[in-house]
Amino acid sequence: MSLARELMSLAAVVATEAGALVVAGKSETLEVAATKSSRTDVVTAVDVASEQLIRRRLLTARPCDGFVGEEGDDISGSSGVEWVVDPIDGTVNFLYGIAQFAVCIAARIEGVVTAAAVHNPVTGEMFTAVKGQGALSDGRPISVSECVEPALALVGTGFSYSAEVREHQAAEVARLLPVVRDIRRMGSAALDLCAVASGRLDAYVERGLKPWDLAAAGLIAAEAGARVEGMHGAAAGERLVVAAGPGLFDLLHELLISSGFADWPLTQWPNGCRS
Ligand code: IPD
Repeated sequence: MSLARELMSLAAVVATEAGALVVAGKSETLEVAATKSSRTDVVTAVDVASEQLIRRRLLTARPCDGFVGEEGDDISGSSGVEWVVDPIDGTVNFLYGIAQFAVCIAARIEGVVTAAAVHNPVTGEMFTAVKGQGALSDGRPISVSECVEPALALVGTGFSYSAEVREHQAAEVARLLPVVRDIRRMGSAALDLCAVASGRLDAYVERGLKPWDLAAAGLIAAEAGARVEGMHGAAAGERLVVAAGPGLFDLLHELLISSGFADWPLTQWPNGCRS
């Protein structure tokens, strides 16, 4: 088995185990353990326990790998493999009992995201991908929708935890809404990208994603046939992520520009913006 496939299999096994922990944690009384960028950007004890389990399992199996997680300190490795982990993407949904959250595990080899698993532990759905080998949902190949007309496109998006950023995002979405089929804000960027991968959304656009929100699900969307990019051919990153099938991407990109998605310079973001 190739290294990439081995990493994907390990990611899927560990994501399943962490998902079971998360679902078990949901039946207990949930409290916010901490807040991050704003009072609404929460961490529960279950986020922390999930990340600890994932880190322990991955680094026991592969002790020389690096690790970057949403809730803990980074570990640098020596193997050339680095794991990028979101222990619960969609923490606010998790807190409110909305079944739209996921455990996300990606492996970068020499800096390139090469293997990925995104698992919704409530529905049981497991999305996986290996770079160059397509994307799967529960072992079956998936692909993006055939939508080529923005007016017929169902577009997922999400909003920052910062009130100031949200004001800008609301204005951009208000300009986009009349020219697409509709907008969805489901609360997990990773599952939104997997929804593009499986044709449940035609496109997805969001500013402010962190590497752990994007790494695993971005590969899954790309392997399902989506273009996953920023504005004007830039790499997808914290500044902007746009994901859509190749027949839709360019037309949607035009609409995003006219809706103001390209207008807000990075330097004006509160708390900085890294890519
Ligand atoms: C958040 C979710 C949300 C998106 C935010 C993310 P978290 O991740 O993915 O849908 O709009 O940008 O920060 O905080 O639940 O891990």
